[in-house]
Amino acid sequence: MSAATVSPMPVAGIPAARLPELLQAMPKAELHMHIEGSLEPELIFALAQRNGVALSYPSVEDLRKAYAFTDLQSFLDIYYAGASVLLKEDDFHDMAWAYLLKAQEDNIRHTELFFDPQTHTDRGVPFEVVIKGLSRACARAKTELGVSASLIMCFLRHLSEESAFETLQASLPYREHFIGVGLDSGERGNPPEKFARVFAKCRELGLHLVAHAGEEGPAAYIVDALDVLHAERIDHGVRCVEDPALVERLAKQGTALTVCPLSNIKLCVFDKMDAHNLGHLLEQGLKVTINSDDPAYFGGYLNQNFLETFEALDLDAQAAYTLARNSFEASFVSEADKARWIAELDDTFRRFAQ
Ligand code: ADE
Ligand code: ZN
Repeated sequence: MSAATVSPMPVAGIPAARLPELLQAMPKAELHMHIEGSLEPELIFALAQRNGVALSYPSVEDLRKAYAFTDLQSFLDIYYAGASVLLKEDDFHDMAWAYLLKAQEDNIRHTELFFDPQTHTDRGVPFEVVIKGLSRACARAKTELGVSASLIMCFLRHLSEESAFETLQASLPYREHFIGVGLDSGERGNPPEKFARVFAKCRELGLHLVAHAGEEGPAAYIVDALDVLHAERIDHGVRCVEDPALVERLAKQGTALTVCPLSNIKLCVFDKMDAHNLGHLLEQGLKVTINSDDPAYFGGYLNQNFLETFEALDLDAQAAYTLARNSFEASFVSEADKARWIAELDDTFRRFAQ
């Protein structure tokens, strides 16, 4: 691991046997979570009943059985169908609230939630309904759970530039409810350049910019997300290893990668967890974070991602510290909040080292 990126742990010597407990207890941030991807089958069925929406699966078990994906698109087809039960402001609130309760259990201090307005506005659900429901849950989380939550609006990259501009226009009356924009959905054949002008406008508006790149798409999409879109973080980014000059650049710039290990296995980006390149990315000095992506579909929330990754890749307490610290450093919160949460992280490690 390069000295430049490994944050020194406050106290060394935490035994491997205590790692699972440490991964659970350590405060952390989650920076890559699609709120529509937190819709559990049980909630899909409950909302379908509440709203009189017909589902193509007879039971929760049958729906869960359909979660066997071969690639990103095979997942997206089911994911967009699942979101069809969301119609009212309360539906969006209830979905986000269910996730935020899990976030509290996982000791997440801060989360930056992606939402996909076009998935809803294309079905006739007004933008206002989506954002008001999600915002209400985020505000409640702060006061009732002590979890800080912000929203990042994603443009669906399989749709047109025109549709993205219409979405941006519809969002402007609610500008104070979200902190940035992202780019998600089917990556192959939808390069970052397609949204160059939309992102330029968002940049002018002072929004934070992130983009999915290098999940299924080539390393060149990561370069374009940086150079053309001016993305501040890269979502996934695991295919950066195919371009050594890019790896060097990402390490030098300290650009964060929001890696999602369980997602990568479920969507066949890697065959199995012990073949995941996260350990290698850390060794290359990259600012890696661990995230859950679409936890209801991929077999676990954030701490499950940490547990399975650490077990398979044989990572240690130093890696746990670096990953948790990176999550705060790469977040879009104030320097004061970062310092406060990192101090809490340090205290947790000191406690475990005793
Ligand atoms: N939307 C939800 N999850 C996604 C992922 N892993 N990649 C691209 N778009 C997504
Ligand atoms: Zn994602």
